[in-house]
Amino acid sequence: MSEFVSVCKVSDLPADGTAAGFEVNGEPVALVRTEGEVFAVSDVCSHAEVALSEGEVDGYTIECWLHGSCFDVRTGEPTNLPATEPVPVYPVKIQGDDVLVSFSATNTNVEKAVES
Ligand code: FES
Repeated sequence: MSEFVSVCKVSDLPADGTAAGFEVNGEPVALVRTEGEVFAVSDVCSHAEVALSEGEVDGYTIECWLHGSCFDVRTGEPTNLPATEPVPVYPVKIQGDDVLVSFSATNTNVEKAVES
């Protein structure tokens, strides 16, 4: 069962190639806009619990600003040390002007194209 909740408006999305942090029902989520798509990942690095949304986006990865681990925003898997554990990724749905994320299903990211 996947229940989608509103995270923000399409107009609140970060610019392409960047990320922004949001909190939904106490759940920190980073929306990453890259390659014309939007991805949602947990906004907590699996290594030392800092906000991933403050890191650099490069293609389909986001780099943790603290120790430099990169995470694939499609799968949540780290692509280099020191992080060894994936971060949860969440399905994203864009409905009209709303950006919706489902927290009930993880690591099954559904990317959505955004018209810019
Ligand atoms: S806190 Fe993110 S890599 Fe160390």
